[in-house]
Amino acid sequence: MTTTDEPRARTELEYAAGFGNEHHSEAVPGALPSGRNSPQRAPLGLYAEQHSATAFTEPRAQNRRSWVYRIRPSAAHPRFRPIDAPRLLSAPVPGGVADPNRRRWNAPPLPERPADFVDGLSTIGANGDVLQRNGIAIHWYTATTSMTDRYFADADGELLIVPELGSLLLHTEYGKLFVEPGEIAVIGRAVRFRVELPDGRARGYVCENYGRPFTLPELGPIGANGLANPRDFLYPVAAYEDREETVQVVQKFGGRLWAADYDHSPLDVVAWHGNHAAYKYDTARFNVLGTVSYDHPDPSLYTVLTSPTDTPGQANADFVVFAPRWLVGEDTFRPPYYHRNVMSEFMGLVKGVYDAKAEGFVPGGASLHNMWSAHGPDAETFEKASTAELKPQKIDDTLAFMFETRWPVVTTEAAREAAHLQPDYDSVWQGVRRNFTG
Ligand SMILES: [Fe+2]
Repeated sequence: MTTTDEPRARTELEYAAGFGNEHHSEAVPGALPSGRNSPQRAPLGLYAEQHSATAFTEPRAQNRRSWVYRIRPSAAHPRFRPIDAPRLLSAPVPGGVADPNRRRWNAPPLPERPADFVDGLSTIGANGDVLQRNGIAIHWYTATTSMTDRYFADADGELLIVPELGSLLLHTEYGKLFVEPGEIAVIGRAVRFRVELPDGRARGYVCENYGRPFTLPELGPIGANGLANPRDFLYPVAAYEDREETVQVVQKFGGRLWAADYDHSPLDVVAWHGNHAAYKYDTARFNVLGTVSYDHPDPSLYTVLTSPTDTPGQANADFVVFAPRWLVGEDTFRPPYYHRNVMSEFMGLVKGVYDAKAEGFVPGGASLHNMWSAHGPDAETFEKASTAELKPQKIDDTLAFMFETRWPVVTTEAAREAAHLQPDYDSVWQGVRRNFTG
């Protein structure tokens, strides 16, 4: 395991920039065939393999696939056997309850026993159906050990990882990504990876997206630029492991974990090209837009990535950030307004204070407001914001985010009975006073 004394990996890594680009990379010169994907003999004795995230026939604008050139074909593996993962669940959640109650949790404690990223995945809730490839699951991860002889791949969904505590060095089939709090990573569906902990411990959130891959939202009247700009999404360059020893490969498939003992590292891709891989994004690059006149725009304006469905505008999942920004609205209640909404909202906090909650919503914690569950500022925030002097105000040093989804999130028993569940979240609105003067 690495320690904090070792040089920070971020300064050593190269990336290729551009969301959804047709990237290409080779760790050894000449490893990437030119002019064709599957030559009779691939360069350097490598095996050519296509890795798709969409059906071959999906429209060009949505199609995701990459060609990889690897030391052994992925097919060279033994049988997978099911292994226990009692805290990692999928939709439909066994014994799950669709519950109208609003919930809020403190940050989960780090494990007392050594636990790697996979061991430390704990499901808060899920919706849709994992085998139908719709819906999402929401997990916390808590880890205290790097994965060294163990690898993970998720056939059930792509993984949007939001670190809150500690950085992650993600060794993927497509290369390495260094990700720290404030940044996010997306691991494409069925991409194999292992997680190293440069800080020795890590905690954060995962949106496991069963549905269509995350993409950038349309901009409409905003124009050609703004929100998350494509050039700020960073993809790894090819980096391979040439290991001939027994390692465990764990895959999540059909809601369960399965393991197989390989005699080599599955991260043996020497070159690749395509648009299905893994990528990272620094939320500090998000171009936050907002009102310059009055009223608070709907928070969809803060969407970084969206997983669309067949119903236009109803996302399987939206990833939304509440990043540092100026508030300048005149004659406007500036924090998020009170609302009830068809979409279900899971929120987390990476750092600082969220502007609708004066206290109780803590870094590493979370809240869940399912469809049409009424919510908004707590009593203290309402009092302050409705009497504040409306000079320009910077909301700074904060990062809250939301996984918003079209269906209610059905919580797991573990999440409903967690010791870090706040017992009386409803009380934050109990102090909201009657002000009616009619
Ligand atoms: Fe909300």
